[in-house]
Amino acid sequence: MKRVITYGTFDLLHYGHINLLKRAKELGDYLIVAVSTNEFNEIKGKKSYFTYDERKKLVEAIRYVDLVIPENSWDQKIDDIREYRVDTFVIGDDWKGKFDFLNDYCEVVYLSRTPEISTSKIKSELGLSALKI
Ligand code: CTP
Repeated sequence: MKRVITYGTFDLLHYGHINLLKRAKELGDYLIVAVSTNEFNEIKGKKSYFTYDERKKLVEAIRYVDLVIPENSWDQKIDDIREYRVDTFVIGDDWKGKFDFLNDYCEVVYLSRTPEISTSKIKSELGLSALKI
């Protein structure tokens, strides 16, 4: 069984997220999604609209996703790859090159982002960024 892992905040779930998760699942048989915790988002300078538990439930409800785990830190990826016997690490190409060091542990794939949609754009267009949520 080929196992795939990806990481992200997945706040205000949108079709760019769904496209990414669909294509990630197509690279293997079992898709693990590490969803950033509220605390880790703070470290990243992000504040999500939905809490970790809410975002986890939403991502778990997607048919392509087999398991959701918490993303607590930048440094957990190698441990996760070992613990979950991951074959392929996948992430959007906004991160291109940033995770090449994981090639020592598994295959690394950067998928093209879906154009013209992002959580930041939704927040901005709904005026939520001004409210800092
Ligand atoms: N993603 C994508 N296409 C988009 C938006 C996101 O493929 N249009 C991918 C990202 O590259 C990442 C995953 O979805 O692999 C989770 O991204 P996340 O940062 O949670 O979503 P964004 O919409 O990019 O959020 P933000 O605007 O806050 O950066």
